[in-house]
Amino acid sequence: MKQVKILLLGIGGYGSFYMNALSEKIRDGSVALAGICEVTPGMEERYPVIREKHIPVYKSPEEFYRERQADLAIIATPIHLHYPHVKACIAHSNVLVEKPVCAAVEEAEDMIRWERETNHFVAVGYQMNYDRNLLALKEDILAGRLGKPVCMKTLQAFKRGYHYYHRNNWAGRRTVNGYPVNDSPVNNSSAHQFQNMLFLLGDAMDRAAEVASVDARLYRAGSYVENFDTAALKAETCEGVPVYYYTTHNMKEDQWGPMSEFRFEDAVVYLGKDYGQGPLLNYVAEWKDGTVRDYGPVPTAWSMQKLEDAIECAQNGGHPVCTVQAAMSHLQTVLMLSKMPVLPVDENALIQEEKDGDTFCRIDGVEEAFGRCYREQTLPEGRFWAEK
Ligand SMILES: NC(=O)c1ccc[n+]([C@@H]2O[C@H](COP(=O)([O-])OP(=O)(O)OC[C@H]3O[C@@H](n4cnc5c(N)ncnc54)[C@H](O)[C@@H]3O)[C@@H](O)[C@H]2O)c1
Repeated sequence: MKQVKILLLGIGGYGSFYMNALSEKIRDGSVALAGICEVTPGMEERYPVIREKHIPVYKSPEEFYRERQADLAIIATPIHLHYPHVKACIAHSNVLVEKPVCAAVEEAEDMIRWERETNHFVAVGYQMNYDRNLLALKEDILAGRLGKPVCMKTLQAFKRGYHYYHRNNWAGRRTVNGYPVNDSPVNNSSAHQFQNMLFLLGDAMDRAAEVASVDARLYRAGSYVENFDTAALKAETCEGVPVYYYTTHNMKEDQWGPMSEFRFEDAVVYLGKDYGQGPLLNYVAEWKDGTVRDYGPVPTAWSMQKLEDAIECAQNGGHPVCTVQAAMSHLQTVLMLSKMPVLPVDENALIQEEKDGDTFCRIDGVEEAFGRCYREQTLPEGRFWAEK
């Protein structure tokens, strides 16, 4: 079998997940890492396999392709670089680009055109889309086994503080050097659960439902955040299905959720339902006739099925399931949110906290408020945290 040659762009942040997964494959010879693109000096020292296997490090994909070739380019660089990096790679290689696919609809449309012109694929790194349990659920949805979708909702949040926002020059920014990045929990840290709902509602295995309209309450709590760090939103698909999503970086616990309820005419799919032993982090469908099916656990953040699938398709043909179209509705939602006002949080409701050498900004009462909105499928009213 042909050994797949890989180029990896960006190894310092999330790219380290790819480096770790690839290190084993490089050592056992199942793939070859033809090169790395990284601009932070010395970053390659973190991975012994780079020196061991004499893997060359370049400053740009253009430099790499002048000397070498690859079957698959993996792009784990900052959001605003996805477009130029896909553009530089697609003529030479298939591409697996991290989520979000890019920062503008026209850019995503270019990528779809380039796929046609070059006969290479662009796959997007939403790992939940590649999960076999969720694909089984999607198959059942598409086959009509749960009835028509009625309403979807999810709550998921990760606490993030000063270090997270100061790890690079784009975290929490609306633009970088005049170029849109729209970084936020909806576009980045908690993007997956929202995109997954749209993906499950897509009219084919490799498509997401299109979004017709979005209503939202966006809040900025952290003083170093340019965009928003807390959001409640309701997107409505073109088929008229409301999709609610609640997320924040500003709560007490390190992690909150995920919890979901996907309501269909004949069944409800729960994630995080308490069956007597605490929240069960499995997708469980309960049909009106009493039938229950456990689709298995929610995929973890470090699931690398997307890498396996991209390698397999680069080797044998085909397109990984998360297409540019499947990523487009999330991008469109992010762009709609970027036109909406970001509301201030009453400063009496803001609590500064130190923990493990980091500083966090907490919104007092966000758990109660978002918990209530999640239960009732509503959006919070204005500066509601000031009510206390
Ligand atoms: N799928 C997931 O669960 C997940 C999780 C986290 C981040 N991400 C995505 O991964 C991407 C990167 O995010 P991050 O948090 O790692 O960003 P980061 O800014 O922390 O790290 C990006 C890395 O790319 C390098 N880089 C920057 N400019 C470069 C260039 N021109 N050429 C080559 N390398 C360059 C940086 O030096 C750094 O090592 C984003 O799209 C993000 O949304 C995905």
